[in-house]
Amino acid sequence: MILLANYEGRSGVEYAAKLLARGENGLRAIVEGIKIVESNLDIHTVGMSSWPNILGQLQLDAAVMDGNTRRTGAVGALRNYKHPVEVAYRVMTDIDHEILVGDGAERFAHEIGAVTAVNETNSSLTAWRKHLENVLTAEQKQLFPNIRLLDIKSQAVDPEKLFDTTVYLSIDHEARISTATSTSGWAWKYPGRLGDSPIIGAGSYADSRYGACACTHTGEMSIRAGTARSVVLYLKMGLSVSDAVYESARDLADLKTGYLDEVTIHAVDKDGNYKVIGLNSSETIRYVVWTPSMSAPQVCEAEIINL
Ligand code: GLY
Repeated sequence: MILLANYEGRSGVEYAAKLLARGENGLRAIVEGIKIVESNLDIHTVGMSSWPNILGQLQLDAAVMDGNTRRTGAVGALRNYKHPVEVAYRVMTDIDHEILVGDGAERFAHEIGAVTAVNETNSSLTAWRKHLENVLTAEQKQLFPNIRLLDIKSQAVDPEKLFDTTVYLSIDHEARISTATSTSGWAWKYPGRLGDSPIIGAGSYADSRYGACACTHTGEMSIRAGTARSVVLYLKMGLSVSDAVYESARDLADLKTGYLDEVTIHAVDKDGNYKVIGLNSSETIRYVVWTPSMSAPQVCEAEIINL
């Protein structure tokens, strides 16, 4: 058994590890862990009180994948629900689709009785207003929101770049490998923008025969490189977990156009070996790992590679 999570997700790790240790289904364990992160008001890139999009609305993304069945569930641009990761789980279990977005996702969440919430808080809206104050011209301030949002698109930079999406990967007592993600995406993003987190194969992928991968940071890059699926495919081709991650990092580094920045790749193989790298990361990247031999989850530093 193993649990791997990025540092942003640390507040839910202890509980998820406890569930794994007591023999719960690994996907349920990591969904429950991420729900704690989604409720954590001090984390501004996941769930409640995250940084909103440029219109001041919180549009949340999440995904789950069961590596035994390769069934997935994902939601994108979901508003007004407290636990996007739970709604994603229910997409997997309750409907013959894999991804729901926007109004459809909200209708589905309502129909399954998901917990509603006003996710925008004073703190997140104050940060948003401060951002607008800094980037809008006097004329744009008068007209907002009826302005051309494209004109301020390059200003969508996270105030806390070090932090990001929450990703969890697990292997449970039955060797089921699972992944789950949840995020508010980029701060001040263009409305409707989806990152890699709800895109299975980009931001996460799990296959109990080989392993799993989940990414954080620049979703625009992992979408283009199909990073999470690539890592698992490289594992299938016989590469070690480190080499699979390095190979996917090289695929990312080969992108020369579009928005390019850092990507963190988290991966485990079916034997519980794991690797986390920060590609082109400017700061220390931490992650959390737990195995049954540990008395408590441990915080580790990722390898940083510049390509
Ligand atoms: N990796 C999260 C995002 O790009 O939204």
